[in-house]
Amino acid sequence: MKLLVTGGAGFIGGHFVRLLLKERPDWTIINLDKLTYAGNMATIKDITSPHHHFVKGDICDTALVSNLIEDHHIDAIVNFAAESHVDRSIESSLPFLTTNVLGTESLLSAARRHKIKRYVQVSTDEVYGSAGESEHFTESSIIQPNNPYSASKAAADHLVRAYHVTYDLPACITRCTNNYGSYQFPEKFIPVIICNAMQGKHIPVYGDGMQQREWIHVMDHCRGVLAVLEHGRAGQVYNFSDDTDITNIDLVRLILEQLGQPNDLIQHVKDRLGHDRRYSVDSSKSQRELNWAPKIPFATGLSETIKWYQDNQNWIETVLSHS
Ligand SMILES: NC(=O)c1ccc[n+]([C@@H]2O[C@H](COP(=O)([O-])OP(=O)(O)OC[C@H]3O[C@@H](n4cnc5c(N)ncnc54)[C@H](O)[C@@H]3O)[C@@H](O)[C@H]2O)c1
Repeated sequence: MKLLVTGGAGFIGGHFVRLLLKERPDWTIINLDKLTYAGNMATIKDITSPHHHFVKGDICDTALVSNLIEDHHIDAIVNFAAESHVDRSIESSLPFLTTNVLGTESLLSAARRHKIKRYVQVSTDEVYGSAGESEHFTESSIIQPNNPYSASKAAADHLVRAYHVTYDLPACITRCTNNYGSYQFPEKFIPVIICNAMQGKHIPVYGDGMQQREWIHVMDHCRGVLAVLEHGRAGQVYNFSDDTDITNIDLVRLILEQLGQPNDLIQHVKDRLGHDRRYSVDSSKSQRELNWAPKIPFATGLSETIKWYQDNQNWIETVLSHS
């Protein structure tokens, strides 16, 4: 298998490349990443396999994507590349529409032209919008994004579906809940809590902090994406979640406790505009059809993640200095 992975110098894409090199050692991976502020060679410094080839470039550059597909006889594409931070999308949505929508269109058109055997779009549960108190979104729930990031991801999902229906492109979509783990850029919630707590700095918490989120370890998500790549049915959507839900404020308290820091570091700040109150997805279809199940308990994964940030201050400084 020769695979084009996009966004593989970012948090989840980098872990996906690591997973493939371990689990599918015969595969060749072309890793295309623009190295925006969120992507960094330091994130994939440990990847030295001759089966991995990094290319700096933009998924919006259709000619580049086409050349890569042709030159490397690419069989399949997994698209992780995205602008991914909700707060930045509220500040300025254009880069989100450019990469997340037009970039996806660029990949899809190249995939169609070259008759790619499998296309996987890595999407998010945020496209479903905010869940009611006991609601769990399934793959057929209504798409109701509430911020420019999730709207751009939802638009991309619609394009992927349209390419499947119109051109018979063998495409699948994954929608996963919040990921955590090593190498996550320190503007996302868990790394911000850990980094600020390590330095005894205030931890900003939006509004009352009672927003509820489901967390999944990044490697469990990556195993799900691999399962979709190998066994997903074309045209289908697959949700991923490990049903660990916790309010933002409880998560902050948990991390502060593990780091031996006091709760008075918590600083409530004005709530995010359009802030979704609750995310929750039902991943029983993925469990049933793909024989997938999350393996890493939240308590274990979180402790390991905290330890990783404590041990990798150089990485934190390197990636922040490029942002
Ligand atoms: N982080 C989460 O909790 C989460 C949950 C569900 C789904 N997702 C989705 O997973 C994917 C990866 O998320 P992440 O958290 O790893 O994001 P990230 O911001 O850490 O990484 C994104 C990567 O894409 C690259 N990139 C951005 N624009 C590009 C472009 N135009 N061309 C090529 N490369 C480009 C960046 O340089 C970076 O390396 C995204 O599509 C995101 O929507 C993330």
